[in-house]
Amino acid sequence: MTGTPVTLGVDLGTSGVKAVALDAAGRTVAESGRTYPLLTPRPGWTEQRPEDWARASLEALADLAGHLRDAGAVPLALGLSGQMHGAVFLDARGEVLRPAPLWNDQRTGTAVEEIGARLPRADLIARTGNRAVTGFQLPKLVWLRSAEPDVFARTRHVLLPKDYLGFVLTGELRTEPSDASGVGALNLTRRAWDEEVLGALGLSPGLFPEVVNSWDVVGRLRAEWAVRTGLPGGLPVVAGAGDNAAAGVALGLTGERPGVGGVSLGTSGVLFAPLAAPTPDPEGRVHLFAHADGGYHLLGVTLACAGALQWLRDKLAPGVGFDTLLAEAASVPDGADGVTFLPYLAGERSPHLRDDLRGAWTGLSLAHGRSHLVRALLEGTACALRDTYDVMRPLCGVTSLLATGGGARSDLWLGLVSGALDLPTHRPAREPGAADGAALLAMPAAGLHADLPATLRALRPPRGPSLPSLPTRHAQAQHRDAFRRLYGPPHEPQS
Ligand code: XUL
Repeated sequence: MTGTPVTLGVDLGTSGVKAVALDAAGRTVAESGRTYPLLTPRPGWTEQRPEDWARASLEALADLAGHLRDAGAVPLALGLSGQMHGAVFLDARGEVLRPAPLWNDQRTGTAVEEIGARLPRADLIARTGNRAVTGFQLPKLVWLRSAEPDVFARTRHVLLPKDYLGFVLTGELRTEPSDASGVGALNLTRRAWDEEVLGALGLSPGLFPEVVNSWDVVGRLRAEWAVRTGLPGGLPVVAGAGDNAAAGVALGLTGERPGVGGVSLGTSGVLFAPLAAPTPDPEGRVHLFAHADGGYHLLGVTLACAGALQWLRDKLAPGVGFDTLLAEAASVPDGADGVTFLPYLAGERSPHLRDDLRGAWTGLSLAHGRSHLVRALLEGTACALRDTYDVMRPLCGVTSLLATGGGARSDLWLGLVSGALDLPTHRPAREPGAADGAALLAMPAAGLHADLPATLRALRPPRGPSLPSLPTRHAQAQHRDAFRRLYGPPHEPQS
């Protein structure tokens, strides 16, 4: 073989697909991406066309293959990653039956109640690690059965987004535990579909694909795709991971180092804690998923984080730079001189699991200005992450955090998060994403490293010094008080 050997990683995100090629040292040799539309046919519904994912992936992979030829690099395997929880419904011929409802779709409230009525919550959590959650895939299938019975009757397979792409690339129906545990019907300890759970809902396990390890080869690139992309025919395609687990792999957040967790200040705020053994929250207020390294991880998702600042800027300060807004907020003390922001612009996932929560500023007076609104917003998102961490802390051994996402570029915001969570927080020296994690998961199959633990040990990104944490005592007290006044006792589980 001549040329630099590389593995490819594809991440099927919500706004677009990203494809990367990494060499054996984890360096980026080439990357490419394409976008696709988000469909919102009704309030609370979010969908994408699986055909758009396939077309965009084809274009991104063709572009990537061109870059690799120019760079003299040789692709040896391709790993998959993608947005979790979406549902692709296929008929007996493998044709897509309707657009896929996504992870942030909220149409399944009644389906979640139906699951709750048929399966005691404690039993569902003991089996799957999670209670029924509106965004997960299983309620989408239950919704389809009552809302679109004709489509349900023709459905023979239901796939997660990245597994659909794997099916298109290879013709094989497979999944792996990190994404499959976000369906809501995977027995976490057996890493197989739970027949009791599915039986209680009258669903056949045969609807779901076989579960293999995240680092296993699921199939080989079909000749048609090889011709259309310029990638080698028969290229091994590796199962990969859901996007959070894949990003965790890329950052070295694995069960070998359970003390290092992750916080992402992106559109949503995400707390990630790798685990060596499964420790579900008895009330299911944070998610417990299988990790791609063979272990487990906890995941807490607060729905409005950097997305909230974007919203504030777009609505109240159009054209003003984020740096200006953040600099103004830095001059305001802890507690924003009595102003509090509850960040529930899109309802809330962890730990409240309530889509009826809404955002609010409270405590405003004539003396307050834009800087207080921004400061309160940053503090509110930090406090929302703290609410989630309160649930996670007794279940994990995290003692420091690696911070990623657009919001983590701000020392102020990261300092507030570090202060609210009372955890030292570092930035990684480089910020690899889910596509990089997918490429790492393909390295053992490519023979570039002996196995996944060897890959992860060799390619874990170094981290920078810890950031100074900022006081949030007043902000936290105000947050708890405002929450209680508007929404009742905090952390109260939804019935
Ligand atoms: C995780 C979740 C999101 C999606 C988006 O539970 O819903 O992070 O994976 O990509």
